[in-house]
Amino acid sequence: MKILREMQSEDIDSVLSVIDSQDEDDAEEAESGYREIGGTLDQYVIEQDGKVIGVTGFSAQPGCDDTYWLSWTYVHDDYANKGLGRKMLTELIELIKEKGGRKLFVKVSDYVDDEDGSIYAAALHLYQSLGFKIEITHKNYYDEGEAQIILGLRLKDKTDVIAPAEDCPVTFNSVFEITETEDAYSFGWHDEGEQAFTEEDVKIGLDQVRQDEGRVVFLSFPSTFTGIKDTLLSAGFSNSGILDDYYEDGVHEQHFTYYLRPLHESMTN
Ligand SMILES: CC(C)(COP(=O)(O)OP(=O)(O)OC[C@H]1O[C@@H](n2cnc3c(N)ncnc32)[C@H](O)[C@@H]1OP(=O)(O)O)[C@@H](O)C(=O)NCCC(=O)NCCS
Repeated sequence: MKILREMQSEDIDSVLSVIDSQDEDDAEEAESGYREIGGTLDQYVIEQDGKVIGVTGFSAQPGCDDTYWLSWTYVHDDYANKGLGRKMLTELIELIKEKGGRKLFVKVSDYVDDEDGSIYAAALHLYQSLGFKIEITHKNYYDEGEAQIILGLRLKDKTDVIAPAEDCPVTFNSVFEITETEDAYSFGWHDEGEQAFTEEDVKIGLDQVRQDEGRVVFLSFPSTFTGIKDTLLSAGFSNSGILDDYYEDGVHEQHFTYYLRPLHESMTN
């Protein structure tokens, strides 16, 4: 029996209570997303006795070939650990497959609460038991000592393609703090410029982040863009991993990290 029903704007308050039962900060963050136009599109709820007790959903990644991200996925604390999360996600994955989904990604934090312990451990366990594989662990992402773990799940067999390298003239156009993080930054970029960014351009961006008292910079680019990797590595960035077949089969997303401040000793191990 199917358990998911499409979320409506009238469900927003109940959904926020579900999220709030597990994590107050996430409820605040989720609210702005749901209240925007189209914010409940492709979002689903589960009910028990007429009461919303769980939420999940997905969003398509623009510019990618059938790549999806899992949205806020929560079961009310009073109903957790009864198998509802697994049922909800199994049904959702089938829905994404029906839409032609090729790859599904999800982000999880490894935050450990002083009182409640590892609050995302159940989610991590559940995703892995459904076939998701950890593709990148960004240490110190949300804050010092709190990593972001990105897991990916293939929904279709991989096609055998060799993506050609592109001489893409990527230029930076902004510096911004990444949402949900403490002082982690990224650069906006577009690929319609006249020439590729230089080490000097990277340093201008890093200086701006330093002025804003940023802690760390995370950047990512398609694996087929040539030249980018060498420029970033010589500017001091390190490779932080790859999301496999992110854009399309054979075109991955390469991730890079640059720390502006030394980490506290306990965070470096
Ligand atoms: C993740 C979540 C949606 C799962 O919903 P649920 O209804 O509790 O899920 P289920 O009961 O189907 O499954 C929970 C699984 O986690 C396991 N689990 C529970 N606590 C755990 C822990 N501390 N460490 C590891 N595994 C744990 C359970 O044993 C079960 O696994 P099993 O089916 O192999 O026995 C729910 O726990 C939740 O809302 N968590 C907080 C929010 C969250 O982490 N969301 C995802 C953020 S991206």
